[in-house]
Amino acid sequence: MRKKVTVVGAGNVGATTAHWIAARELADVVLTDIMEGIPQGKALDLMEATPIIDSDVRVTGSNSYEETANSDIVVITAGFPRKPGMSRDDLLKKNHEVIAATVEKVVAQSPQSILILVTNPLDAMAQSAYRLSKFSRNRVIGMAGVLDSARFATFIAMELNVSVENVNAFVLGGHGDTMVPLPRFTTVAGIPITELMPADKIEALVQRTRDGGAEIVKYLKTGSAYYAPSAAVTDMAEAILKDKRKIMPCAAFLQGEYGIRDLFVGVPCKLGANGIEQIIEVKLSAQEQAELKRSADAVRELTATIGV
Ligand code: NAI
Ligand code: 2OP
Repeated sequence: MRKKVTVVGAGNVGATTAHWIAARELADVVLTDIMEGIPQGKALDLMEATPIIDSDVRVTGSNSYEETANSDIVVITAGFPRKPGMSRDDLLKKNHEVIAATVEKVVAQSPQSILILVTNPLDAMAQSAYRLSKFSRNRVIGMAGVLDSARFATFIAMELNVSVENVNAFVLGGHGDTMVPLPRFTTVAGIPITELMPADKIEALVQRTRDGGAEIVKYLKTGSAYYAPSAAVTDMAEAILKDKRKIMPCAAFLQGEYGIRDLFVGVPCKLGANGIEQIIEVKLSAQEQAELKRSADAVRELTATIGV
């Protein structure tokens, strides 16, 4: 039997996630949204592309949750995107209500599923879904680090004029202005970038990574990034669906790892059939640890505000 992925929110990130999953023939997809006709129309359009792209998956759209039953993975993108001048954190209360409205229905239909959260502010929304779902912590995962490290990797490959395939970037922390790109663990064909670029150039790329979401918002004006975010979700879903045991940076509920307790923060995780199979701990320098703590403190402020 084919695997099944539900995508809640058929907007830019949700619909493009459905597109990548169908194109890579990973699973049947159910798109659901509150907007009448939107998930149905996008799903049918995508389904009609499957004979052209030779993909035997079924894509359906709905305004309810019955069709989502027994999903292996549920990706939650429902919510409101960041507008120009609006910080991720401004979205906090609005999107917390959306998570509350969706998670209960998702869990009722797919009690064995693995949740991948996308809605911003990411770490706080993942924590909200974790509390509401009452799932074990390995089954609630936030997507941010794969996107942030892909941005860092892109900028490094552009700067050094090398293949993106050579670059392995490493980003820790919350998905926000305090995220912690780690040059020491970022390599090009196994060579640390600290050997390949001067410190001021690295710092400029780190800052561009931190501002990566805002840079796209500034161009698009009416919405935020979706191609790279949805590609990131799809890579995580693939690692789970195929039990790849791939190490990827994800927002995970920490219980003492990296000195952080009871909080979602981005850390390297091994993804497989059970979701997070393992959280990988690396030894950080005092400065890296301090930056991670600062980032975690910023997430904790948000979770405290919404009481999750
Ligand atoms: P969008 O506005 O294109 O799509 C959001 C969709 O959610 C809309 O179709 C809307 O009708 C739907 N929605 C709203 N309330 C709902 C509910 N209660 N139930 C079902 N559907 C509902 O926005 P986009 O660009 O797809 O972004 C979605 C979210 O993902 C935003 O919060 C955005 O900030 C976040 N995001 C997070 C990233 C990350 O790295 N974690 C990267 C990119 C976006
Ligand atoms: C991004 O980083 C909006 O969080 C989203 O593009």
